[in-house]
Amino acid sequence: MANKQTGYDFWRNVLHNPKYVAAPMVDMSELSFRMLCRHHGSQLCYSPMLHSLQFSQDFLYRKDNFSTCFEDRPLIVQFCANDPEVFINAAHMLSSECEAIDLNLGCPQAIAKKGYYGSFLQDDWDIIRSMVQKASYELPIPVTCKMRILPGHYKKSVEYAKMLEHSGCSVLTVHGRTREQKGHATGLASWEVIKEIKANTDIPVIANGNILTFDDVQNCLKYTGADAVMSAEALLHNPALFSGENLPVWKIVEEYLQLADKYNTPIKCVRCHLFKILYLCIYQDDELRKILTEGSTLKDFYSIIEILKKFPDKVNHATESVSFEQEPDLGNFFESANPDFQESAGRNVLELKTSCIANDNEHKFCDQTVKRNSALSDANENFISEMNARNENNSEATAPVLDDTFKYLPIWICHSRPRIAINEKSRGCFSKYFDSTSEKQR
Ligand SMILES: Cc1cc2nc3c(=O)[nH]c(=O)nc-3n(C[C@H](O)[C@H](O)[C@H](O)COP(=O)(O)O)c2cc1C
Repeated sequence: MANKQTGYDFWRNVLHNPKYVAAPMVDMSELSFRMLCRHHGSQLCYSPMLHSLQFSQDFLYRKDNFSTCFEDRPLIVQFCANDPEVFINAAHMLSSECEAIDLNLGCPQAIAKKGYYGSFLQDDWDIIRSMVQKASYELPIPVTCKMRILPGHYKKSVEYAKMLEHSGCSVLTVHGRTREQKGHATGLASWEVIKEIKANTDIPVIANGNILTFDDVQNCLKYTGADAVMSAEALLHNPALFSGENLPVWKIVEEYLQLADKYNTPIKCVRCHLFKILYLCIYQDDELRKILTEGSTLKDFYSIIEILKKFPDKVNHATESVSFEQEPDLGNFFESANPDFQESAGRNVLELKTSCIANDNEHKFCDQTVKRNSALSDANENFISEMNARNENNSEATAPVLDDTFKYLPIWICHSRPRIAINEKSRGCFSKYFDSTSEKQR
């Protein structure tokens, strides 16, 4: 198709050089969440994966699974497909509502195996080639791909990426984990392989995997040389991840509820997001947990905000005598709230630009940058060994000890979820702060 910008022209002139990208997430990267992320630093968003055959045939599926609005741009809509005609038919239906169409080559779930799509196509380059070629030729907007790396030598992944580029892929997202790295085996993503792919291709590359903090985002850009970083799980816990801020959790909840109201988000979806955003708070307050599990309207969920505003007071009194009011220096607060932390200059400095709330329910912005010298990775190593020892002594699955996480970061402030135990059943992310081997692996 003539007059279509592709590759870096598209990246610069249409997408405006985004660095911070909100990932495609089935059931979770819906319009209201995308808008929340956009308000807090995400510069490009992906829709959840849509099934191309169902999308092109079923009006109800379309109605239930995709919505957008004027401000929801730039947007890339993702489809799974294994047939060029079907892929293009579905893509045509949304080509005026987004900047590009993405082909999902990463889904590792059993359902993708059954339907023969996502990462299960990576063994069949002919099908992939035919879909990408046809789409890049026939669609009025560019086609992009999201791949996983391949097992074995990095050169195989580079060859795969080059095949996608030569087939007409305009932007490539590389999730630095293999198809096998899922569930318990999720582990670390390889930034090495992403770096090699970036160095050996001439299209924009988005790096994905191992992002927990804003520091990770910058480190990933620097290490891989990628054009942008994509985050999924960490954004679910801290939708303001890409702003570099850790806002009070009630503010994020309030804003998300307003957006959910505006865009008619199904209550089931709202609940899922609140569980993610409040992943630490729910263990601290019975009433909050009850509302989250039993609430059936947005009004029910709005009542959570007042509970959350009281959290600093409640938790401080319950656990420590220190509060922000008494101790406005957040650096000191962290040290005193967690006496295990030792200063170790020059190592893994975690910057928390924190806007905190005070005890009287009025939010006061302390807006200081706290350099909390970590020790966080040492503390986490100790914690992981402790968890392992506990698990060895107890054949029953041990629940993650959230009190221990609470020691590291205040729970009423939005931050990404650390993967606190090796055997935790989370797709989670795994940043350098939480794994002693990651430095060696990079
Ligand atoms: C709830 C959830 C839903 C996801 N759905 C999709 C999807 O629809 N399409 C896709 O390509 N990847 C999907 N993924 C994978 C993410 O986009 C991302 O590649 C993966 O989670 C690794 O990034 P992270 O370490 O930042 O979480 C999903 C991940 C999560 C946590």
